[in-house]
Amino acid sequence: MSRRGKFITFEGLDGTGKSTQMRKLAAALRAAGHKVVETREPGGTATGEKIRRVLLDSKTEGLAPLAEMALMFASRAQHIAEVIQPALDHGQIVLCDRFTDSTEAYQGSGRKLGSEAVLKLHRILCGDLQPDLTILLDNDLRKSIGRARRRNHKAVRRSESLGEHGDENRFEQQNRAFFARVRDGYGAIAKREPGRVVVVDASGEKGETQRRVIEAVQKKLKLGTRIND
Ligand code: TYD
Repeated sequence: MSRRGKFITFEGLDGTGKSTQMRKLAAALRAAGHKVVETREPGGTATGEKIRRVLLDSKTEGLAPLAEMALMFASRAQHIAEVIQPALDHGQIVLCDRFTDSTEAYQGSGRKLGSEAVLKLHRILCGDLQPDLTILLDNDLRKSIGRARRRNHKAVRRSESLGEHGDENRFEQQNRAFFARVRDGYGAIAKREPGRVVVVDASGEKGETQRRVIEAVQKKLKLGTRIND
Protein backbone atom coordinates (compact mmCIF):
# COMPACT_ATOMS: atom_id res chain seq x y z
CA MET A 1 0.00 0.00 0.00
CA SER A 2 1.62 3.30 -1.03
CA ARG A 3 1.43 5.97 1.66
CA ARG A 4 2.73 9.24 0.36
CA GLY A 5 0.57 11.56 2.45
CA LYS A 6 0.41 12.06 6.20
CA PHE A 7 -2.34 10.94 8.53
CA ILE A 8 -2.85 13.02 11.68
CA THR A 9 -5.58 12.25 14.20
CA PHE A 10 -6.97 14.35 17.07
CA GLU A 11 -8.14 12.62 20.21
CA GLY A 12 -9.38 13.51 23.66
CA LEU A 13 -12.45 13.74 25.84
CA ASP A 14 -15.50 15.66 24.64
CA GLY A 15 -14.96 19.35 25.33
CA THR A 16 -11.14 19.47 25.05
CA GLY A 17 -11.31 21.75 21.97
CA LYS A 18 -10.28 19.15 19.37
CA SER A 19 -12.36 20.55 16.54
CA THR A 20 -11.06 24.11 17.03
CA GLN A 21 -7.45 22.94 17.19
CA MET A 22 -7.85 20.76 14.13
CA ARG A 23 -9.29 23.69 12.14
CA LYS A 24 -6.39 25.91 13.18
CA LEU A 25 -3.81 23.30 12.21
CA ALA A 26 -5.51 22.81 8.83
CA ALA A 27 -5.31 26.56 8.18
CA ALA A 28 -1.62 26.69 9.16
CA LEU A 29 -0.77 23.74 6.90
CA ARG A 30 -2.74 25.16 3.96
CA ALA A 31 -1.04 28.55 4.40
CA ALA A 32 2.27 26.71 3.94
CA GLY A 33 1.00 25.19 0.68
CA HIS A 34 -0.10 21.70 1.77
CA LYS A 35 -3.20 19.97 0.50
CA VAL A 36 -5.29 19.11 3.55
CA VAL A 37 -8.41 17.00 4.02
CA GLU A 38 -10.39 17.61 7.24
CA THR A 39 -12.70 14.86 8.34
CA ARG A 40 -14.22 13.21 11.41
CA GLU A 41 -15.45 9.99 12.98
CA PRO A 42 -17.95 8.59 13.34
CA GLY A 43 -18.89 10.03 9.94
CA GLY A 44 -16.79 11.50 7.15
CA THR A 45 -18.81 9.85 4.34
CA ALA A 46 -22.52 9.90 3.47
CA THR A 47 -22.94 6.39 4.89
CA GLY A 48 -20.78 7.19 7.90
CA GLU A 49 -22.86 10.27 8.72
CA LYS A 50 -26.00 8.07 8.73
CA ILE A 51 -24.26 5.69 11.13
CA ARG A 52 -23.21 8.70 13.23
CA ARG A 53 -26.84 9.79 13.60
CA VAL A 54 -27.80 6.37 14.95
CA LEU A 55 -24.80 6.33 17.33
CA LEU A 56 -25.26 9.81 18.78
CA ASP A 57 -29.06 10.03 18.85
CA SER A 58 -30.28 9.91 22.45
CA LYS A 59 -33.42 8.22 21.10
CA THR A 60 -31.30 5.20 20.11
CA GLU A 61 -32.15 3.06 23.11
CA GLY A 62 -30.56 -0.09 24.43
CA LEU A 63 -27.72 -0.25 21.92
CA ALA A 64 -25.47 -3.13 23.04
CA PRO A 65 -21.83 -2.08 23.63
CA LEU A 66 -20.64 -4.61 21.02
CA ALA A 67 -23.11 -3.24 18.47
CA GLU A 68 -21.89 0.26 19.28
CA MET A 69 -18.29 -0.81 18.66
CA ALA A 70 -19.24 -2.56 15.42
CA LEU A 71 -20.99 0.56 14.14
CA MET A 72 -17.93 2.70 14.95
CA PHE A 73 -15.83 0.33 12.84
CA ALA A 74 -18.44 0.14 10.07
CA SER A 75 -18.24 3.92 9.74
CA ARG A 76 -14.43 3.74 9.86
CA ALA A 77 -14.06 1.02 7.20
CA GLN A 78 -16.18 3.08 4.80
CA HIS A 79 -14.25 6.24 5.70
CA ILE A 80 -10.88 4.61 5.00
CA ALA A 81 -12.04 3.19 1.66
CA GLU A 82 -13.79 6.31 0.46
CA VAL A 83 -11.80 9.21 1.92
CA ILE A 84 -8.67 8.51 3.98
CA GLN A 85 -6.71 6.04 1.84
CA PRO A 86 -7.42 7.78 -1.50
CA ALA A 87 -6.27 11.13 -0.04
CA LEU A 88 -3.09 9.58 1.39
CA ASP A 89 -2.42 7.90 -1.95
CA HIS A 90 -2.60 11.37 -3.54
CA GLY A 91 -0.01 12.72 -1.12
CA GLN A 92 -2.46 14.79 0.91
CA ILE A 93 -2.47 15.46 4.62
CA VAL A 94 -5.51 13.95 6.31
CA LEU A 95 -6.62 15.49 9.62
CA CYS A 96 -9.19 13.34 11.37
CA ASP A 97 -11.23 14.29 14.44
CA ARG A 98 -11.14 10.91 16.28
CA PHE A 99 -10.07 7.47 14.99
CA THR A 100 -9.49 4.00 16.50
CA ASP A 101 -8.02 5.42 19.73
CA SER A 102 -11.51 6.77 20.44
CA THR A 103 -12.93 3.26 20.12
CA GLU A 104 -10.25 1.92 22.44
CA ALA A 105 -10.88 4.68 24.99
CA TYR A 106 -14.71 4.89 24.81
CA GLN A 107 -15.77 1.32 23.96
CA GLY A 108 -12.65 -0.51 25.21
CA SER A 109 -12.31 1.37 28.51
CA GLY A 110 -15.54 3.37 28.91
CA ARG A 111 -17.85 0.47 27.99
CA LYS A 112 -15.36 -2.07 29.40
CA LEU A 113 -15.02 -4.14 26.20
CA GLY A 114 -11.24 -4.19 26.57
CA SER A 115 -8.45 -3.09 24.24
CA GLU A 116 -7.82 -6.47 22.65
CA ALA A 117 -11.19 -6.66 20.89
CA VAL A 118 -10.72 -3.14 19.52
CA LEU A 119 -7.19 -3.79 18.27
CA LYS A 120 -8.26 -7.09 16.66
CA LEU A 121 -11.13 -5.42 14.85
CA HIS A 122 -8.78 -2.67 13.72
CA ARG A 123 -6.46 -5.23 12.16
CA ILE A 124 -9.30 -6.99 10.35
CA LEU A 125 -11.18 -3.89 9.19
CA CYS A 126 -8.49 -1.21 8.88
CA GLY A 127 -5.46 -3.34 7.97
CA ASP A 128 -2.15 -1.70 8.78
CA LEU A 129 -3.43 1.88 8.58
CA GLN A 130 -2.16 3.81 11.60
CA PRO A 131 -1.91 7.56 12.11
CA ASP A 132 1.57 9.03 11.54
CA LEU A 133 0.84 11.31 14.48
CA THR A 134 -1.92 11.49 17.08
CA ILE A 135 -2.48 14.67 19.06
CA LEU A 136 -4.11 13.74 22.36
CA LEU A 137 -5.59 16.88 23.90
CA ASP A 138 -5.62 16.52 27.64
CA ASN A 139 -7.56 18.54 30.14
CA ASP A 140 -8.94 18.16 33.61
CA LEU A 141 -11.94 15.80 33.61
CA ARG A 142 -14.22 18.33 35.29
CA LYS A 143 -13.28 21.11 32.84
CA SER A 144 -13.79 18.89 29.77
CA ILE A 145 -17.20 17.67 30.88
CA GLY A 146 -18.24 21.22 31.88
CA ARG A 147 -17.18 22.64 28.53
CA ALA A 148 -18.95 19.88 26.57
CA ARG A 149 -22.16 20.51 28.57
CA ARG A 150 -22.04 24.30 28.05
CA ARG A 151 -21.41 23.83 24.32
CA ASN A 152 -24.29 21.42 24.20
CA HIS A 153 -26.75 23.61 26.07
CA LYS A 154 -25.98 26.40 23.59
CA ALA A 155 -26.65 24.03 20.68
CA VAL A 156 -29.91 22.90 22.30
CA ARG A 157 -31.07 26.52 22.74
CA ARG A 158 -30.12 27.28 19.13
CA SER A 159 -32.00 24.29 17.71
CA GLU A 160 -35.02 24.91 19.95
CA SER A 161 -35.19 28.52 18.78
CA LEU A 162 -35.30 27.11 15.23
CA GLY A 163 -38.14 24.82 16.29
CA GLU A 164 -35.90 21.73 16.09
CA HIS A 165 -35.36 18.98 18.59
CA GLY A 166 -32.05 19.17 20.42
CA ASP A 167 -30.57 17.35 23.40
CA GLU A 168 -27.42 15.79 24.80
CA ASN A 169 -26.04 13.04 22.60
CA ARG A 170 -25.81 9.45 23.87
CA PHE A 171 -22.20 9.88 24.98
CA GLU A 172 -22.63 13.22 26.72
CA GLN A 173 -25.29 11.59 28.91
CA GLN A 174 -22.72 9.22 30.43
CA ASN A 175 -21.63 9.69 34.02
CA ARG A 176 -18.36 10.92 35.44
CA ALA A 177 -17.06 7.38 36.11
CA PHE A 178 -17.46 6.57 32.40
CA PHE A 179 -15.42 9.63 31.39
CA ALA A 180 -12.79 8.85 34.03
CA ARG A 181 -12.35 5.39 32.43
CA VAL A 182 -12.15 6.99 28.97
CA ARG A 183 -9.44 9.37 30.15
CA ASP A 184 -7.49 6.48 31.72
CA GLY A 185 -7.87 4.54 28.46
CA TYR A 186 -6.32 7.42 26.53
CA GLY A 187 -3.49 7.61 29.08
CA ALA A 188 -2.70 3.93 28.57
CA ILE A 189 -2.58 4.33 24.77
CA ALA A 190 -0.21 7.30 25.07
CA LYS A 191 2.05 5.30 27.37
CA ARG A 192 2.07 2.29 25.06
CA GLU A 193 2.78 4.29 21.87
CA PRO A 194 4.87 7.34 22.76
CA GLY A 195 6.31 7.49 19.22
CA ARG A 196 2.91 8.11 17.67
CA VAL A 197 0.89 9.84 20.40
CA VAL A 198 1.80 13.31 21.64
CA VAL A 199 -0.09 14.46 24.71
CA VAL A 200 -0.83 18.18 24.50
CA ASP A 201 -1.97 20.10 27.56
CA ALA A 202 -5.21 21.81 26.53
CA SER A 203 -5.94 23.51 29.85
CA GLY A 204 -4.56 26.96 28.94
CA GLU A 205 -5.30 29.59 26.30
CA LYS A 206 -6.36 28.36 22.85
CA GLY A 207 -3.34 30.13 21.28
CA GLU A 208 -0.96 28.37 23.63
CA THR A 209 -2.50 24.98 22.81
CA GLN A 210 -2.22 25.80 19.12
CA ARG A 211 1.50 26.55 19.49
CA ARG A 212 2.00 23.17 21.17
CA VAL A 213 0.09 21.35 18.43
CA ILE A 214 2.11 23.05 15.67
CA GLU A 215 5.36 22.30 17.49
CA ALA A 216 4.44 18.60 17.67
CA VAL A 217 3.59 18.49 13.96
CA GLN A 218 6.84 20.20 12.98
CA LYS A 219 8.97 18.06 15.25
CA LYS A 220 7.41 14.68 14.43
CA LEU A 221 6.55 15.06 10.76
CA LYS A 222 8.85 17.88 9.62
CA LEU A 223 5.91 19.61 7.93
CA GLY A 224 6.02 23.33 7.26
CA THR A 225 3.24 25.49 8.78
CA ARG A 226 2.31 29.18 8.70
CA ILE A 227 0.11 30.98 11.17
CA ASN A 228 -1.63 33.96 9.64
CA ASP A 229 -3.61 35.30 12.61
P1 TYD B 1 -18.91 14.47 18.88
O1 TYD B 1 -20.09 15.37 19.04
O2 TYD B 1 -18.17 14.50 17.59
O3 TYD B 1 -17.96 14.71 20.09
P2 TYD B 1 -16.63 15.55 20.13
O4 TYD B 1 -16.97 16.88 19.49
O5 TYD B 1 -16.32 15.62 21.56
O6 TYD B 1 -15.63 14.74 19.34
O7 TYD B 1 -19.41 13.01 19.20
C1 TYD B 1 -18.66 11.90 18.97
C2 TYD B 1 -18.86 11.00 20.15
O8 TYD B 1 -18.63 9.66 19.74
C3 TYD B 1 -17.91 11.30 21.28
O9 TYD B 1 -18.61 11.36 22.49
C4 TYD B 1 -17.00 10.10 21.31
C5 TYD B 1 -17.78 9.01 20.66
N1 TYD B 1 -16.98 8.00 19.95
C6 TYD B 1 -16.86 6.73 20.47
O10 TYD B 1 -17.43 6.44 21.53
N2 TYD B 1 -16.11 5.79 19.82
C7 TYD B 1 -15.48 6.05 18.64
O11 TYD B 1 -14.82 5.18 18.05
C8 TYD B 1 -15.62 7.38 18.09
C9 TYD B 1 -14.95 7.72 16.79
C10 TYD B 1 -16.38 8.32 18.78
